[in-house]
Amino acid sequence: MMQVQWYPGHMTKAKRIMLEDIKLIDLVIELIDSRVPLSSRNPDIDEIAKGKSRLVLLNKSDLADPCKNEEWIDYFNKKDMIALLVDSKSRNGFSPINKSIEEACKAKIERNRQRGIINRPVRAMVVGIPNVGKSTFINSMCKKASAKTGNKPGVTKGKQWINLNKNVELLDTPGILWPRFDDEKTGMHLAFIGSINDEIIDETQLAMELMEYLVKLYPGALYKRYEVDESQKTDVILNDIAIKRGCLKKGNEPDYSKASNIILDDFRSGRLGRITLEEPVYSERK
Ligand code: G4P
Repeated sequence: MMQVQWYPGHMTKAKRIMLEDIKLIDLVIELIDSRVPLSSRNPDIDEIAKGKSRLVLLNKSDLADPCKNEEWIDYFNKKDMIALLVDSKSRNGFSPINKSIEEACKAKIERNRQRGIINRPVRAMVVGIPNVGKSTFINSMCKKASAKTGNKPGVTKGKQWINLNKNVELLDTPGILWPRFDDEKTGMHLAFIGSINDEIIDETQLAMELMEYLVKLYPGALYKRYEVDESQKTDVILNDIAIKRGCLKKGNEPDYSKASNIILDDFRSGRLGRITLEEPVYSERK
């Protein structure tokens, strides 16, 4: 199995900023990738979000397997976590968000009420690993929201908040979490979905690993797209795809790198179908 090592230096700074920002908020909205819900969760999120209300959003659900999507929702619900399937690009699944925020913050709102604090909006923050869709989500929420509030830039330094409605304010800068790297499989899954810079990865090896998964988990997906014989070894399948797609180098040699990029791109954009690579594991951490 290939090794993926990746911990960019800017993650340390991002973590520091996020730990500061998190002090300002009541609710953590955790975005994860529906195609790899385990690998796209930060291992320390429970610790980071301790004492805060929580909402899990399985983003990019449009690219993931609909049956597996339901299984994952079930998984989080069984852990007493409120979770929703969303597609931040098209805003599918957005309508129950406000109600779920209210539900997630019920205890906090009740505590406030007992202290005589009524109608104080809940302050929320979006967190997630790079490329999971944080900016897309915030922008899509923004479209529905009223004007931005907060300090005017240049007048007073401070955070910008978006009024989602009279009950919820959203911090307009998301918290960037570092992905988990406790095993090689996780790194590879993150590389499949494009969360790890392609420049540090051998795309041919990655595409072959992905093909192995696909043949096993989604038989027929490669055949449907490329009309290749899936019973062959992955290097032979790759060779066939290169030839069928006209990926040739000088001297008519197959260009494996180009063919690999086509496969990875097709997977990432959903052209190989709606695919989920991870199953719920019930003995895992919360
Ligand atoms: P980040 O802030 O967490 O780093 O992620 P960002 O919003 O930049 O999103 C990363 C990519 O994921 C973008 O694609 C974005 O369009 C796409 N994306 C976000 N949410 C969804 C979703 O729910 N479904 C799908 N299918 N895609 C989503 P990109 O290729 O970088 O940009 P673009 O070509 O889409 O503009």
